[in-house]
Amino acid sequence: MKRALTLLTALLTSSALTSATLAAGPTTLREAAGDRLLIGAAISMPQIEDPKQAELLTSQFNSIVCGNDFKPLYLHPKPDVFNFETADKYVAFAEAHGLKLIGHNLLWHSQAPAHLFQDESGKPLPREQGLANLQKHITTIVTHFKGKVIGWDVVNEGLADSEPYLRSTPALKSIGEDYIQKAFEFAHAADPDVELYYNDYNIEKPYKFPKALKLLKALKDAKVPITGVGIQLHCQLTEPKTPAELEAAIPQFAALGLKVMFTELDVDVLPRKASGADVTAKEQGANPYTAGLPADVAEAQGKYYASIFQVAMNHPGVVTRVTTWGTDDSTSWLNDWPVRGRTNYGMLFARDLSPKPAFADVMKVLTAK
Ligand code: XIL
Repeated sequence: MKRALTLLTALLTSSALTSATLAAGPTTLREAAGDRLLIGAAISMPQIEDPKQAELLTSQFNSIVCGNDFKPLYLHPKPDVFNFETADKYVAFAEAHGLKLIGHNLLWHSQAPAHLFQDESGKPLPREQGLANLQKHITTIVTHFKGKVIGWDVVNEGLADSEPYLRSTPALKSIGEDYIQKAFEFAHAADPDVELYYNDYNIEKPYKFPKALKLLKALKDAKVPITGVGIQLHCQLTEPKTPAELEAAIPQFAALGLKVMFTELDVDVLPRKASGADVTAKEQGANPYTAGLPADVAEAQGKYYASIFQVAMNHPGVVTRVTTWGTDDSTSWLNDWPVRGRTNYGMLFARDLSPKPAFADVMKVLTAK
């Protein structure tokens, strides 16, 4: 009798525990997203070296991208020098914690070494030389990370904001318009299994969307091995049009057979003139929240974040990853762009690593039935 009672108590306790756990539901972003969506973060060394930061990263996120350390300037500083030491630390961290790693980026006009496409006087290299340099650059890097990264941002920000089509970059001036196609082909030849993305900002917006569609369609028509398109989404609280534009753009990208990813999501709460993410933008601007983020602003930011994640959830199987450009507010580039030295609050987690209202709002979207 006593044994039966003990057994019954044990059973009751364990089922109570189970239902309590079920009722509580997922407690982290990665759990809540399950296998529907990769939840990513852009990181730098502190996020893997500081135990508390690493704990936040590995509990909440299941994929990482390096905010800087995989960029051409650091991996390939001189014609015959490739430097993989720092980047390999992220590879080891990703492997140790079962995180998917995305490479950002193979080709960009910023944080890129001049030697790829310019001679010493700054003149564009002849096409054949530029192409040979591009091939060596991409082949060496993609080969090094073969089997270690799941995807590459092959070309970053190749579209112009004001000119009619492509951005005037050293690669364009040396090689010509097909530099983008060639970059994808070289990457695919070096690793046929790795996913290859075109990544840019504001391509969901009416002024840039047609240029993006034209480029992506041209690549698909030419049978270029492109897997997906990354929409950066450096958003501003004061510019709430993004969700509707995103909704409209996604099916059109998907119709080309592309996966869509939100690759650099942040929601700026401070005033700025720069739209999108032109890294050269420099401004003076107010810094009103040095003492803390007012509750109403935090709440509005939560709604904004939720609306973006809702768009992702509205396109299952098409939107495959949402990556925030940082983890907690202290790790965001928005503290220095486009105004240097502000106290900004672009992320889902506060400086003390606690979840902000935006976290709860995103969790609500991810766990909605
Ligand atoms: C940013 C980094 O976060 C900063 O630390 C760096 O000073 C400049 O670049 N679009 C991109 C990213 O594709 O590579 C940029 O990252 C942000 C805008």
